[in-house]
Amino acid sequence: MEVVICDDDREVGHVAAAQIAQVVDDRGPSVVLGVATGSSPMSTYAALAELVDAGRLDLSHAQAFALDEYVGLPKGHPQSYHSFIQRHVVEPLHLNPHRVHVPDGTASDLERACIDYELAMAAAGGVDVQILGVGSNGHIGFNEPTSSLSSRTRLKTLTRRTREDNQRFFPTLDAVPTHCLTQGLGTILDARSVVLVASGEHKADAVAAIVEGPVTARRPGSVLQFHRFATIVVDEAAASKLELADYYRQVSSAKPLVPTSTS
Ligand code: F6R
Repeated sequence: MEVVICDDDREVGHVAAAQIAQVVDDRGPSVVLGVATGSSPMSTYAALAELVDAGRLDLSHAQAFALDEYVGLPKGHPQSYHSFIQRHVVEPLHLNPHRVHVPDGTASDLERACIDYELAMAAAGGVDVQILGVGSNGHIGFNEPTSSLSSRTRLKTLTRRTREDNQRFFPTLDAVPTHCLTQGLGTILDARSVVLVASGEHKADAVAAIVEGPVTARRPGSVLQFHRFATIVVDEAAASKLELADYYRQVSSAKPLVPTSTS
């Protein structure tokens, strides 16, 4: 695991985007991206859009797979993750919408939709770089505490805390969906590399738990400690509870920001 501590969220976005652009360079135009929703990756998408607009990054042949989707929200609902990915990923990064996939939270057979999603990811050759945020309870994707560390894409019940955290996007708590489809922790671990971004003091406990705490389903993001190519990019506030922060700074200043098998 490599931990990069940045001055602010803008720098988080630039460091994460540079890492993703490096993967695109290595894998070529048909790279497969794993994309997160929520506030955390916004600065990363903005920095990627700058690279695209400057002609330094071409994602027009890339495929992308979203981490998760609410169950029951129509695809066109402004808060569906389908809509989010269209607005914040497909349009600014000039992706081909036909090559962008989001779990189908409106399917009549949700179990089948999850299996199909896993099959589509496998048919694409797997995810080259997975972008992640982390929930205040340590979830990644919508793998809530006590999720199986080897889980695959499936239906999950959202915790009250996650629904409260996401209420800011909805008029009332009751309007926040209660269920979702999410890639599993095992699915996420299959990505060839992962970049998790987090900013703000409200993420400090979760970041400390997943980076320096025990690997435990109680804090699902801690499973990333098993990943050979995981980079955690955080701002000072999100890093504020990391006991080994000075060590991470020392590592960053002494080597390039590319994960190695010795991370
Ligand atoms: C998003 C996702 C979630 C979020 C997490 C943090 O697709 O799967 O894990 O990354 O809930 O959300 P924000 O970034 O809004 O704080």
